[in-house]
Amino acid sequence: MASQLHSTSKPTYTLAEGCPQQDPASSFSINKPGGGGLLLLQDTQLIETLAHFARERIPERVVHAKAAGAFGEFEVTHDITDITSAAFLSEIGKKTPFLVRISTVGPERGSADTVRDVRGWAMKLFTEEGNQDWVFNDIPVFFVRDPIKFPSVNRSHKRHPQTNLTDSTMFWDFHNNNQEGIHALMCLFSDRGTPASLRNIDAFSGHTYKFTKKDGSFHYVKIHFKTDQGIKNFTEAEATKIAGENPDHNVQDLFENIAKGNFPSWTAYVQTMTAEEAEKYRWNIFDMTKVWPHKDHPLRLFGKLTFNRNPQNYFSDIEQAAFSPSTMVPGIEPSADPMLQARMFSYPDAARYRLGVNYQMLPTNCPIGPVYSPMQRDGFANFRGNYGSDPNYVRSSFRSMTYAAGKASHDEWAGKTAAYSSEVVDDDFVQATALWKVLGTQPGQQGNFVSNVAGLLGSAIPEVQEKTIEMFSRVDAELGKLIAEAL
Ligand code: HEM
Repeated sequence: MASQLHSTSKPTYTLAEGCPQQDPASSFSINKPGGGGLLLLQDTQLIETLAHFARERIPERVVHAKAAGAFGEFEVTHDITDITSAAFLSEIGKKTPFLVRISTVGPERGSADTVRDVRGWAMKLFTEEGNQDWVFNDIPVFFVRDPIKFPSVNRSHKRHPQTNLTDSTMFWDFHNNNQEGIHALMCLFSDRGTPASLRNIDAFSGHTYKFTKKDGSFHYVKIHFKTDQGIKNFTEAEATKIAGENPDHNVQDLFENIAKGNFPSWTAYVQTMTAEEAEKYRWNIFDMTKVWPHKDHPLRLFGKLTFNRNPQNYFSDIEQAAFSPSTMVPGIEPSADPMLQARMFSYPDAARYRLGVNYQMLPTNCPIGPVYSPMQRDGFANFRGNYGSDPNYVRSSFRSMTYAAGKASHDEWAGKTAAYSSEVVDDDFVQATALWKVLGTQPGQQGNFVSNVAGLLGSAIPEVQEKTIEMFSRVDAELGKLIAEAL
């Protein structure tokens, strides 16, 4: 679909320093009669053109490299002020603009959209109290619960260090030996692993966060966005076919639907839990491999999200966007989930590498309200005035600042230093088994699950296949048998 608009305005062509230039389609040379000609080093236009082209690429994200993006609006539909003081959630009808980026995780920037993978959902809400980022996935649980395993799980889903090929043996070997990921695997190998479009997925915080109030009270929460378009998935065969025919299927689908005014929307819900409930709960609420079943903690409706505008320029709006779970407004806080704590370090760290130390100044990342952060100075590409002559040290006598009220202390942090254990116990299989039973209530879904696993497992070495069958037998003995038969 053509997205370019013909413009009637005729800007004067210049170089980046603003100096007008002649036609950019010709280099400057000493012509020889009959063609050819020596180029001149003084042709700044040619040099700038080639030099800038060679520097057009920035590092792609180490994970979540391929994506579509959009702008939209979040609206509060139900009162939620009893559990959070966040200003953008303060009244029914209040609207907040946002930027969203939806990605696949493992493959590179040029890869096919319909591969079996988790979809990432990164959102930046531009609130009057600064930016609120929600960096979610389309499955409610994760493959590991100790952040030190994050690089490993991702590498096992990517390319083998020798062959440069994705590698089924490596994939299953990781999961056989780190079986806390079984619940996430059950999601990934159901047909939800190959969504029919980005408009047909849900998104989940996965982690437990906290909604807080100014009086110091708080609730633990998990946030869910449910698609108003309904869940629709491809089968493995459909996804594979489309990956060949149109690798950009999902990016195109989202862009075209927004362009023609068919704005997709999602309903926002929150699950809540008090600290007392959390202490006695059946599951560790800081373990990202577990959900809170809805029957224990029902979904509470609070908002609506609508995508209503396409990016104007993909690189500037979407590729240069940087999201982080650490970007939070007052009224929303992290929990002690170790994965979340590690992510709060990792994303700004990744952005400093990928976009530079002043990445928050890029227009796409800029909050709508004032920013006064004079303890962050200088650095590459600092283009926002750098706080002029204002003091660059704390407690200066020469310019006073006003400060937000100190955060109430919500948790008593107690404990002793210990290695976080991700030993796997039978209890880790209970929710996976429940999901297998849910698939049994949906026609054809258990069969698809088995053939989806067998499709990838078929090319692993026999020893790894056996261990994977054992792992799925812990979910359900019949499931293990079915996979073995399907190989
Ligand atoms: C310890 C665990 C994790 C670590 C260390 C981690 C780290 C990262 C890194 C380094 C990036 C690339 C960021 C960039 O270059 O701008 C990224 C992207 C992303 N991650 Fe994670 N991640 C973790 C777990 C998760 C989980 C549990 C979720 C979802 C609940 C998630 C969702 C995403 C999304 C949606 C993106 C894409 C962000 C964008 O569109 O720019 N990640 N992650």
